Amino acid sequence: MTPSIKEDPAQYAFEELAQPENATPTEAVSPQKKIPRTRHGLRVVVLHNLRKHAPQNGPRPADALAELDSETNVAAYAAALRAAGHHVIGLDGNPDLFRHLKRLKVDICFNTCEGYRGDGREAQVPAVLEMIGIPYTGGKVTCLANTLDKAATKRILVASGLPTPRFQEFTHAGLALSPELRFPLFVKPNREGTGMGIDTGSMVRSEAQLRERVEYILKEYGESALVEEYIPGRDVTCGLVGNLTALEAGQAVPDPLPGDRTPGGGMDWNGVHVFPISEVDYSRIPDMDPFYSRKVKELPLAAYPYLCPAPLLTSIASDLARLAVETFRVTQSLDFARVDFRLHTGENLKPYILEINSLPGLTPISDLTLCALAEGWSYNRLIQSVLEAGAKRYGLMNGADSLLVNDEQKRLI
Ligand SMILES: Nc1ncnc2c1ncn2[C@@H]1O[C@H](COP(=O)(O)OP(=O)(O)O)[C@@H](O)[C@H]1O
Ligand SMILES: [Mg+2]
Repeated sequence: MTPSIKEDPAQYAFEELAQPENATPTEAVSPQKKIPRTRHGLRVVVLHNLRKHAPQNGPRPADALAELDSETNVAAYAAALRAAGHHVIGLDGNPDLFRHLKRLKVDICFNTCEGYRGDGREAQVPAVLEMIGIPYTGGKVTCLANTLDKAATKRILVASGLPTPRFQEFTHAGLALSPELRFPLFVKPNREGTGMGIDTGSMVRSEAQLRERVEYILKEYGESALVEEYIPGRDVTCGLVGNLTALEAGQAVPDPLPGDRTPGGGMDWNGVHVFPISEVDYSRIPDMDPFYSRKVKELPLAAYPYLCPAPLLTSIASDLARLAVETFRVTQSLDFARVDFRLHTGENLKPYILEINSLPGLTPISDLTLCALAEGWSYNRLIQSVLEAGAKRYGLMNGADSLLVNDEQKRLI
């Protein structure tokens, strides 16, 4: 017999954690009873991959679980969605997901699944949702498979005429080095995030160092190594929420981007809201490498050296916003994203796109959250905006501009 969700310890653990502390029996949501629906709220399933549920795959790199989530973070997403009147439960994006979802009445899934393993792991949950026919937030299958793969993303960027460091993908440490590439080079795992595999040894100055590092990535991460020209300069990131209108999504965004500046330093253009640019301030961490390694990413918030809005000329900030929206567009990203750049100090701060995070972290201390907070948004508003962007695409908004239907709910964001 199929076990009920209640009998599945992974789901049960989340259910306990996700209930509001003072939930009355009627408020408490049990997946067995189906998620109730009130007049205004949507039935939302927060899909997550918790670190503690990661399958044991045998030997793995020390930072293998860096991208997976904690219960505290998942509870924060759920609380933000409940504050807008939605009915929320959580499910783990594991192989049982298909079975569980088929038995639930769901309006939309709030997808945060990074995937536990496998090539294109971020695309696995969207593939399941597409198969069952359930709406969900964030990029679809092709988008998430492409953008998890940094080299695949760069091929799209190059084909779209967008600036990205020259590169070569190494599937074997013995491959001939492309004569186009100039040292120093930067070596990183092709399909990881959160600074995984990025440390002091990532920058290489000789062919011997390069081959040693490529060998290390191939062996330790079991995937190809992306080798790029090292861009000396500043690390900035540009986050956004929303979606382009169908017409705008079909053509390159105008240069310069004719968006309306918002008082908080962001910009609105055709359904997309771009947050102020954020920069890592390496002058505050002089004893660390001048790149965004996992060590820097894992600094506690109080010691995390970021500047938002970044001290940049308006013309550069606007150009970054344009490039971020265009990258979002050509990678077919949806609802939210964050684009990472390096600004070349030897080339008048010319922006080079490193990657797009089509499923960027949404925790209360993630970079995207810090950008939103810097603009005066609340955390709840950010999370609710991601859901609303997705809900709008599927026509779940009942013609309303916002799912926030009364003053009480508005007060909560
Ligand atoms: N080509 C490069 N030149 C200089 N620094 C780089 C380059 N590629 C990556 N980095 C540094 O490594 C950090 C992480 O790289 P990124 O490609 O964004 O991977 P992740 O998915 O781990 O965030 C960047 O923010 C930057 O500091
Ligand atoms: Mg990055």
